[in-house]
Amino acid sequence: MHFLRSAIFSLLAGTSLARPGSQDKISTAKQARAAGYALKEPPLTTPWTDKVGTDPWPEYPRPQMQRSQWQNLNGVWQYQNASSLAAVQNPPFGQDLAQDVLIPSCLESGLSGVQGEYMIYSWFSTSFKVPKDWHGQSILLNFGAVDYEATVFVNGKKAGFHRGGYFRFTLDVTSFLKPGQQNELLVFVHDPTDDGDYVIPIGKQTHRPSHIFYTPCSGIWQSVWIEAAPQNHVSGLDIDGNMEGQVNMTVHTSSANITTSVQVVVHDGENVVATYRGPTNQPFQFKVDSPKLWSPSSPNLYNITVTLGKDQVQSYTGFRTISKGTVDGVVRPLLNGEFIFMFGTLDQGFWPDGIYTAPTKEAMVYDLQMLKSLGFNMVRKHIKVEPELFYRACDELGLLVIQDMPALRPIQSRTLPNCTSQTILPNAAQQAEFSRQLEVLVNQHKSFPSIATWIIYNEGWGQLTDYYPEFELTDRVKQLDPTRLVDSTTGWYDHGAGDFSDNHHYANPQCGTPFYSTSSSPYDDTRIGFQGEFGGIGNNVSIEHLWNNQNAINTINQTYEIDITLDAWNYRSHLLLSELQDQVRLFSCSGGVWTQTTDVEGEVNGLMTYDRRLSRVDEDQWKADIQGLYDAAAARSNGTMSS
Ligand SMILES: *[C@@H]1O[C@H](CO)[C@@H](O)[C@H](O)[C@H]1NC(C)=O
Ligand SMILES: *[C@@H]1O[C@H](CO)[C@@H](O)[C@H](O)[C@H]1NC(C)=O
Ligand SMILES: *[C@@H]1O[C@H](CO)[C@@H](O)[C@H](O)[C@H]1NC(C)=O
Ligand SMILES: *[C@@H]1O[C@H](CO)[C@@H](O)[C@H](O)[C@H]1NC(C)=O
Ligand SMILES: *[C@@H]1O[C@H](CO)[C@@H](O)[C@H](O)[C@H]1NC(C)=O
Ligand SMILES: *[C@@H]1O[C@H](CO)[C@@H](O)[C@H](O)[C@H]1NC(C)=O
Ligand SMILES: *[C@@H]1O[C@H](CO)[C@@H](O)[C@H](O)[C@H]1NC(C)=O
Ligand SMILES: *[C@@H]1O[C@H](CO)[C@@H](O)[C@H](O)[C@H]1NC(C)=O
Repeated sequence: MHFLRSAIFSLLAGTSLARPGSQDKISTAKQARAAGYALKEPPLTTPWTDKVGTDPWPEYPRPQMQRSQWQNLNGVWQYQNASSLAAVQNPPFGQDLAQDVLIPSCLESGLSGVQGEYMIYSWFSTSFKVPKDWHGQSILLNFGAVDYEATVFVNGKKAGFHRGGYFRFTLDVTSFLKPGQQNELLVFVHDPTDDGDYVIPIGKQTHRPSHIFYTPCSGIWQSVWIEAAPQNHVSGLDIDGNMEGQVNMTVHTSSANITTSVQVVVHDGENVVATYRGPTNQPFQFKVDSPKLWSPSSPNLYNITVTLGKDQVQSYTGFRTISKGTVDGVVRPLLNGEFIFMFGTLDQGFWPDGIYTAPTKEAMVYDLQMLKSLGFNMVRKHIKVEPELFYRACDELGLLVIQDMPALRPIQSRTLPNCTSQTILPNAAQQAEFSRQLEVLVNQHKSFPSIATWIIYNEGWGQLTDYYPEFELTDRVKQLDPTRLVDSTTGWYDHGAGDFSDNHHYANPQCGTPFYSTSSSPYDDTRIGFQGEFGGIGNNVSIEHLWNNQNAINTINQTYEIDITLDAWNYRSHLLLSELQDQVRLFSCSGGVWTQTTDVEGEVNGLMTYDRRLSRVDEDQWKADIQGLYDAAAARSNGTMSS
């Protein structure tokens, strides 16, 4: 969301392939403690708050690399505040921690049972038994995501460390385990968010929530699970399927320096459509003849079985090609060789009961189904990375994803003792860590067919001003993933990097137009004309649909525009969508992002309220207006094309 620079400175200071029976019962120790956990009433609930219970997120969490022998460690764990970073030197082994906590969750959420503030240093513990029939195999401990740094101890020994709040990591804990006994898992989490001088990828999280900046998330906010695999096992899969039916695949293994062969079988339902034997740890290619292509209107997917010795994992792909080309003289994004007008919402992925963690998978998919049913063909995942099941749902539903890198803290300043103002920007080490995590984002997510575009910088947040790092970051992203487009800077400081000329403007769009406002750049016709954000019109609601926090309510009047009634809000929506349609017809607009899917805290500009209980949209009108955009785009693409 675009906001005035003066305001910035005042900001100071899936479908599981695993057989249902294969998941062993949660250990009895965990069940006994479940009685001590209680939901803390959040400032606003959703229809799913009371459905979470003490067995949250039971689904297999990694849809593109599924193993059948797994055990979910989600449930009630113990939690205790720690005093400082030094506390990690003195772990509370073998002790009961102060209180119960639900995993996965954000400690700041009602669902965690803690709902705290400034959760900077924390301990988490649980215990688990490894099933007897896993004997002789490697035991892998997986975390979907921990915000921000995790130090993991198993049975009193340090098993690993991970930095980065949005990414999956796996530890081989075989040598730390005690067969047949309870194993103690203790995790120290450090999450500075925007404390002090920290400049780390945080997206919209802040310790000082205000209007477009929200409550932070700390802790183990995605699923934790163990699984069994042979010593040499598949550790990662890169899969790309294109419109010619070519599959480009790399099977990474735990013994990365040994090259052996793997077998790959591609299925369409019961039918095997391709079988191939390739080497490990290097790219190989093979072909599927005349595949059914993937697109938003026909989201065809193919299952893939990968076998490495005794290890077998299930995955999938979709066949599609994302590129850009000139159609009737205008640079356009292409899907399977044709201009696709990408129209979606700014999707924050915040929940009043779970903050970053959707209460259930059903809740998470509900938002996507709502968008799909209105005719959106895209979603811009805004400076947050979701659990992998989110991308799986987009693959299945047929929703393209524009994926943002989680931003560093926005441009803020602090007042120095000599009364001068200093801008808080990343130093060289912080910039290097941002680049490293950008690479992890791309590498961990590049196999989801629905992802069409990567965004590096949002509205200049954390973007260095003394040189233009977006050029080298764009090159790096294209090197890691040559199959996607890159929107290097969405809004504000565009110096010509990447595939998009992306404008942000509220409320009215300025998409590929010969007019622009001074906070953005003029349309550059060598790149794709795009409206990365517009809309954002607000409509206040009664207290039972509001995030009931007085500070947040006090910021509602910072919304660009408040429409008093829903009729007025829909009337304004219609005008803004019609304007965008004009810009498709008359100028060079290739897609847009409406702000936003839902209200969040003090922002009341969603298609739905924050609790997802009230929709503002006049469905017939919105469906017609969205279809109007696609029709206008189709009329413009009726002619010759060159790539
Ligand atoms: C956690 O401990 C620190 C240091 O003892 C203290 O400053 C902070 O207030 C505590 N936080 C919570 C949420 O209890
Ligand atoms: C296959 O993918 C890798 C990246 O995973 C890329 O470097 C390579 O160029 C691709 N090969 C082909 C033939 O597309
Ligand atoms: C492969 O690397 C491992 C350590 O990761 C080492 O122990 C082993 O000797 C290496 N094997 C070969 C064939 O280089
Ligand atoms: C992929 O496998 C899942 C689970 O077995 C099944 O539900 C789905 O229909 C399969 N899809 C295809 C295209 O084979
Ligand atoms: C104020 O202090 C900062 C930091 O010490 C220094 O870099 C800056 O030059 C000072 N400005 C003035 C006007 O003295
Ligand atoms: C929005 O509505 C709430 C009550 O639902 C009220 O307290 C608040 O003052 C209103 N704010 C604005 C800007 O209308
Ligand atoms: C918004 O509301 C707050 C508290 O209700 C008030 O202090 C502030 O002056 C208002 N701001 C504007 C721009 O109306
Ligand atoms: C595309 O061009 C053809 C031939 O000129 C015409 O018949 C058709 O109506 C056009 N379609 C659209 C959507 O403008």
